[in-house]
Amino acid sequence: MNQERLVLVVAASGDLQDLILSAVAAQQLHGQVAVSAAQAAAGWDQAETIFIAEDFAEELASRALPRRERVYLVGADETRLATWSTPLGAKVIVLPDGVAWLGAVLDEGSDKAGAPVVALLGGSGGVGASTFAAALALSAAKKGRRAALVDVDPLGGGIDLLLGVERAEGWRWPSLRTAEGYIGDIREYLPHIEGVAVVSMARESPADLAKEPLAAIVQAMRRTHDLVVLDAGRSLSGASREAVRLATKRLLLVAATVRGIAAADQVIRAYGGPVEVVVRRPAGASADSGTVKDLLGFPVVAALPEDKTLAMAAERGELAWMSARRSYLRACAALVAKAA
Ligand SMILES: Nc1ncnc2c1ncn2[C@@H]1O[C@H](COP(=O)(O)OP(=O)(O)OP(=O)(O)O)[C@@H](O)[C@H]1O
Ligand SMILES: [Mg+2]
Repeated sequence: MNQERLVLVVAASGDLQDLILSAVAAQQLHGQVAVSAAQAAAGWDQAETIFIAEDFAEELASRALPRRERVYLVGADETRLATWSTPLGAKVIVLPDGVAWLGAVLDEGSDKAGAPVVALLGGSGGVGASTFAAALALSAAKKGRRAALVDVDPLGGGIDLLLGVERAEGWRWPSLRTAEGYIGDIREYLPHIEGVAVVSMARESPADLAKEPLAAIVQAMRRTHDLVVLDAGRSLSGASREAVRLATKRLLLVAATVRGIAAADQVIRAYGGPVEVVVRRPAGASADSGTVKDLLGFPVVAALPEDKTLAMAAERGELAWMSARRSYLRACAALVAKAA
């Protein structure tokens, strides 16, 4: 039993309390039950994760407890959960569908959670986020690290196409989207390119990737790789938001133009911070890194050079990374080193 990883379960005795406690026990974590708002408030700071049954939502919200991470509101009434999620600063787990996610949420905090997860968000459309996500994974693999690239953009056309592995055999999201709970080692079933395992969207079927399978697959990839890169896209879908939530590092690629910065600001508002900013300065860009930092309020951790060869290689169906300029590759390698 892991005594340090305390899970506070705010629920009266009954089915919901049993269900949460059994998920806690399955992960060998230590569950502490609170059956009143006062007890919940007393354990609020110590717990690593807090689950609140919907019946306690209103009473706890009225206590205006300090904001914190890893608070989950659990129940069957979606409208009621949505009402109280904001005042409590809590994510919502709607039962019965969310049971698997509940397990995944507990699993991700575990000692063996594994590799760092880098999520890439595009500050504006076509800024190069997918190319950069792929380049980070490829750069890690070149250094001998087991890297995985997971496509979370349902409207991106499939990241396998960007990598030139669209004809490669292997599983894509349609085969994986019923995944839930604990997933074992799936590496041998995935397409690989230059040592990178790829989970791609498929072009033939409309993608309706939910957050639960994404959480389950990302957890599985973290256990079997040294770095997991998520191309989060900008769709604001549940899966895209979940990608940002799962990430241990959130990179926002921003074009240093007036519109690029304005769009990036909206992406930050929509997804929430914190993010680390990577700046790209396309022709005509008027802002420098300092201005981008000041306007967005988040640190700039890298500048990505312009590289026309990327677009040309991608259009020819080649792996653009192979012909990328050295300055672009250096920027990727430096970020991979920091992500470890
Ligand atoms: N550093 C760069 N310099 C020049 N061109 C680039 C650079 N990075 C990416 N590109 C090119 O920009 C185009 C868009 O790239 P990409 O698809 O990676 O962007 P994105 O932000 O993922 O777009 P979307 O909004 O569609 O998801 C591609 O043609 C790509 O080759
Ligand atoms: Mg993209």
